[in-house]
Amino acid sequence: MPPPDVLALHTIRLRRPRLADAEAILEYGSDPEVARYADWPIRSDLTALRPLVQDREVRWDAGAEYYWVITERDRDRAIGGISCRITGDAAEVGFLLHRRFWGRGIATEACAAVVAWLWSVPTLRRVWATCDAENLASARVLEKVGLRHERTLPRATVRPNLSPEPRDTLVYARERGGE
Ligand SMILES: CC(C)(COP(=O)(O)OP(=O)(O)OC[C@H]1O[C@@H](n2cnc3c(N)ncnc32)[C@H](O)[C@@H]1OP(=O)(O)O)[C@@H](O)C(=O)NCCC(=O)NCCS
Repeated sequence: MPPPDVLALHTIRLRRPRLADAEAILEYGSDPEVARYADWPIRSDLTALRPLVQDREVRWDAGAEYYWVITERDRDRAIGGISCRITGDAAEVGFLLHRRFWGRGIATEACAAVVAWLWSVPTLRRVWATCDAENLASARVLEKVGLRHERTLPRATVRPNLSPEPRDTLVYARERGGE
């Protein structure tokens, strides 16, 4: 089942990214608070970011990963991103949002819509996500969209913007038909 190019929601829209979004993506991706718990080094260079944005197109067309930018309902500028990577019968979701828009329910609205679409795909049996053990806002978003804390992986993920030491990672998941 092909993913929707656009999801028009109550306060936001999700749409496929374009190369012209790179500058807006850099604005939030270069914010140390936004990149704090990321598993990628903080973005600082538009030239390096552009090929990553272009690669989203290739990965979408290959069915490897679907990535939407988040915009406000009536403005086209990217204020965040949400992705899902489908492997076999499981889909992993991830998201991030410009700091100016935190605390308004936007990540929850975006994530709920993507998770609802994933549950409409009959071949998928599992939706899951990970976050740093100290990333309480992210964990809360995952709970609010119906995922449950499944396990904690000790010293599993390097968060390069925090430390070179691997840190504990929470796994949130839900199986089709599960609690
Ligand atoms: C995580 C993030 C996406 C949340 O976006 P958001 O739009 O502000 O999230 P929402 O408003 O939908 O929900 C946030 C929830 O976390 C709660 N929360 C926020 N900060 C918290 C904290 N320090 N401790 C506990 N709960 C917290 C909020 O109260 C809210 O829950 P509630 O509705 O029950 O009150 C955003 O903070 C972000 O982009 N962070 C950086 C990137 C990141 O960590 N991405 C996730 C990687 S998996």
